[in-house]
Amino acid sequence: MYITVSQITKVYERAESPVTALSEVSFAVSQGEIVGLVGASGSGKSTLLNVLGGLDRPTSGSVEVGGTSLTELSSEQLAVFRRQRVGFVFQAAYLVPAYTVYENVMLPLVPMDLPPTDKRRLVQEALEAANIEHRAEHLPGELSGGEQQRAAVARAVVNDPELILADEPTGELDAENAQRVMDLLLSLDEGRARTIIIASHRAATLAHTERILHIEDGTLTEASEA
Ligand SMILES: Nc1ncnc2c1ncn2[C@@H]1O[C@H](COP(=O)(O)OP(=O)(O)O)[C@@H](O)[C@H]1O
Ligand SMILES: [Mg+2]
Repeated sequence: MYITVSQITKVYERAESPVTALSEVSFAVSQGEIVGLVGASGSGKSTLLNVLGGLDRPTSGSVEVGGTSLTELSSEQLAVFRRQRVGFVFQAAYLVPAYTVYENVMLPLVPMDLPPTDKRRLVQEALEAANIEHRAEHLPGELSGGEQQRAAVARAVVNDPELILADEPTGELDAENAQRVMDLLLSLDEGRARTIIIASHRAATLAHTERILHIEDGTLTEASEA
């Protein structure tokens, strides 16, 4: 299995009342699978994606991704794991406003030890894959919401991550742009062994994923094959 989640619980410690966001969640995902994670607002989707991507740690339980036991990594090792192996897409594009689309997509490659010509080629390929190369020299503020999100997807895939985690990636888009971003995300594993997990509170958004995980109050309720 590419991802093995075993009995993870996540408690957010708060002075007044701790919040249990995930409660003994277990599941496995094979490499190359496209999985939808559906659940109401507050059900624990973001918490789960953050744990899978090494942005946060579970309170208990273990998470293994691609042979790496995340729960055993130091903070520095987790940062390297995220940078090298995971591409994140969030509800908001979070592009750097003063940088062009091209420069934004280049950002993940800046710390990497690669010849500049290779970096430029990777950026070009990512822009083309996301169908946003015609806006390469534009600033984010000059783009539509859908274009900004496609640029964010290009940035997420530019270093060829093995795992893509998308958290409500269409939450701020109209139906047409939402469909384009979903089509793009679903295309990202073509010809690759790339694993993709997309969270949404709307089941319809995830209609074309291969498999749906349902989450409710921090617990996986049913895992169905689509
Ligand atoms: N940093 C935090 N501190 C305290 N509680 C949090 C924090 N982040 C999320 N929660 C709580 O954890 C639960 C799950 O949140 P979240 O994972 O964001 O759900 P979803 O993404 O499905 O909306 C909610 O009850 C939320 O209020
Ligand atoms: Mg969320």
